[in-house]
Amino acid sequence: MLYRLEDYRETAAYIKAQLAEGFLADTAIILGSGLGNFADCLLNARLLSYRDIPHFPVTTVTSHKGTWVCGYLDGQPVHCLSGRFHYYEGYRMEEVVYAVRVLSLLGVKKLILTNAAGAINAAFRVGEFMLLTDYLKLFDDSPARGQLPPEFGPRFFDMTCPYDRSLRKAAKKGAAAAGITLHEGVYAFMSGPQFETAAEIRMLRSLGADAVGMSTVPETIAAVQCGMRVMGISLLSNMAAGILDAPLSDDEVVSVGERSAECFTRLLKEILTKIAGV
Ligand code: HPA
Repeated sequence: MLYRLEDYRETAAYIKAQLAEGFLADTAIILGSGLGNFADCLLNARLLSYRDIPHFPVTTVTSHKGTWVCGYLDGQPVHCLSGRFHYYEGYRMEEVVYAVRVLSLLGVKKLILTNAAGAINAAFRVGEFMLLTDYLKLFDDSPARGQLPPEFGPRFFDMTCPYDRSLRKAAKKGAAAAGITLHEGVYAFMSGPQFETAAEIRMLRSLGADAVGMSTVPETIAAVQCGMRVMGISLLSNMAAGILDAPLSDDEVVSVGERSAECFTRLLKEILTKIAGV
């Protein structure tokens, strides 16, 4: 394995030492492509650059900031990770989910994963949001593979319902309060970095996928293994390949993220309020 338990512990100890007195968060958010500005709305925030955190990987994606922010939203402490690690960047699965395991050592029990995704379901529109009900992973690597310290969970664990039902209920209440459409659906994980072919999207649709993306699923697996409750939200940044008669581009994904940032912030704020007691 790439990391020893001591490495995770050193990272967690470093972060703990930077936190404000009494800061103890049971909730964390990992922000996806172009969605990193949400962290700006946290109060009394401490900002840690990923570069300064021992053993932490460094993100190579320009639309991901690489900042760990600990702050308060409506009086509720949260860890907000602005920037994530993707398999397509060349990281091993252990690196992709490193932060999730550190969050677990820090006592986090609820994890919100956000991403930008391509919409497969033709009833969805660009700029709308989808709450993940389940995922599809058609690719054989897993962050749970190998000899993990028992602190990060058992080797075999239930994945019947990876996205927590009560958190999903709270998310729907939050969306209703914010007046924002929140679809529900299945997220298909593709390892990328190339976007999918039109035939792959037809395959994913026939398998029951509603959206497709290149993140979130490894973190979901590691978090469930650690015993966390997980919620996933996609910003639908584009219609998936072959649905419209137009090529896909990363610029589109980022610019839809920027245009939807204000809406996404409102949605996340409402959702965080609603999950506080759940
Ligand atoms: N495919 C894969 N990943 C993505 C897409 C897509 O269409 N849009 C945003 N991330």
